[in-house]
Amino acid sequence: MTRKQIDTKTAERINAQPRLHQRAGEIQSYGTVSHLLPLELEEPVRLEVTAQLNQLLADTMVLRDLYKKSHWQVAGPTFYQLHLLFDKHFGEQVELVDAIAERIQLLGGVSIAMAHDVAETTSIERPPRGREEVPVQLSRLLDAHQVIIGEVRKQARRASELGDDGSNDLLVSQVLRTNELQVWFLSEHLVSMPLVHAKEPATTVGAA
Ligand SMILES: [Fe+2]
Repeated sequence: MTRKQIDTKTAERINAQPRLHQRAGEIQSYGTVSHLLPLELEEPVRLEVTAQLNQLLADTMVLRDLYKKSHWQVAGPTFYQLHLLFDKHFGEQVELVDAIAERIQLLGGVSIAMAHDVAETTSIERPPRGREEVPVQLSRLLDAHQVIIGEVRKQARRASELGDDGSNDLLVSQVLRTNELQVWFLSEHLVSMPLVHAKEPATTVGAA
């Protein structure tokens, strides 16, 4: 190697210019799992479980976003409490999204991530862009929870059958329990309840 060739190579290595606008082929395709992970879970099991978890991930991302939409767009006398409640549930769904996505990666799969792909995959009904009344917001959220809870129960049983105890634990202990609790908090807001005057006449103690 001549002196000039050596100088050129050194100059390339220590150039401070950032290499911008780079593109290259994918290193792993969506829908595949990487091989030979020492998890004692066969490749077909990891393929099936990651496919199911990606459906759940897409639906959980949509529910997460539905909570933020509801947090921003809520109106009426219960604005303050619902504004806060919707954001609390949003934060809990954010944690579930991360836990599900990282479980997929851990199993050697590829997590769905971008809004366009999520929109094509989700089973949850698309809401309008505009604002809706509180009972409709609550009903949409409850319907989304119902879709997710149905999927989670099926997936948890299947993961258990396949010997994937880690996924079963995530699905039952985190995803199912969180969704069930959020359903309770939402549902109680749809009970028709007088705020000032009780509707039922009081029964007098000792009356015949
Ligand atoms: Fe906010």
